[in-house]
Amino acid sequence: MQGTADAPGDLVDLDRYLLNSESGRAAIIAEGRRQLAVDGCAILPGFVRPDAVARMAAEVMDLLPGAHRRDLMLGAYGDVSAEGLPSDDPRLRRTPYSMHAVATDQFEPAGPVLRLYMWDGLTQLISDMLDEPVLYRVADPLMSCNATILGEGDQHGWHFDSNDFVISLLLQAPEGGGRFIFAPGIRSDSEPSYADVAAAMDGDASLLREPPMEAGALILFRGKYSIHRVTPVTGTRKRIIALFSYDRRPDMQFSERSRLNVFGRTQARPRSAVAAE
Ligand SMILES: [Fe+2]
Repeated sequence: MQGTADAPGDLVDLDRYLLNSESGRAAIIAEGRRQLAVDGCAILPGFVRPDAVARMAAEVMDLLPGAHRRDLMLGAYGDVSAEGLPSDDPRLRRTPYSMHAVATDQFEPAGPVLRLYMWDGLTQLISDMLDEPVLYRVADPLMSCNATILGEGDQHGWHFDSNDFVISLLLQAPEGGGRFIFAPGIRSDSEPSYADVAAAMDGDASLLREPPMEAGALILFRGKYSIHRVTPVTGTRKRIIALFSYDRRPDMQFSERSRLNVFGRTQARPRSAVAAE
């Protein structure tokens, strides 16, 4: 099952990414796997056509008035008791999270962002590149497909993603800053590697990578095991990124606490109420 018959050619650059050809698709998957193995992340530059990227960025900016503003100091490990931990332990560190977050229910189903996310061929491509037998789109009413907007001075502090597979699509790069920095595979399910995580947070260049990113690039990395941050944005042009979530289980939803943390609410708004805003 390739699921590419319905490839949205108005969104995906099918001249550059030959997803409708067996050999073309296999080559894309092989290159993605190679990059993941060598670099800890895979980047597909120009995956979305420039005109579609512009439409997606405009769609997200139109949704900014209904987005949730986050201005928090958060730790990468949630609320951890300081008892028995040294003061510089990475579990106790807090860094700024300052951004607007656009939730799934704000997007129009017929709009370019949701249309790309709902395309089964993308889900299949992601699972093949990550060498997963099967992945599903997350079924969360707010988090499954979302976007973040970082304006001047905004940043996304050090964190691990709470689920295994979050794919990013950069829709608009800022004039300066807004750099995505990550420490590939710095921890595993069995080894938390706190000393290395602390060193990464302190800027140890031997642990950190900064992949080149331009608007239209699809970015895959294992955010649950790779601590990462987005540095403060400079200049007036906003940094806009769409985030697509997948899981090994069908119908996966995030906790109400996670939704509240990111979007300031736990439930989807009725569509009529969304339209009325
Ligand atoms: Fe993240």
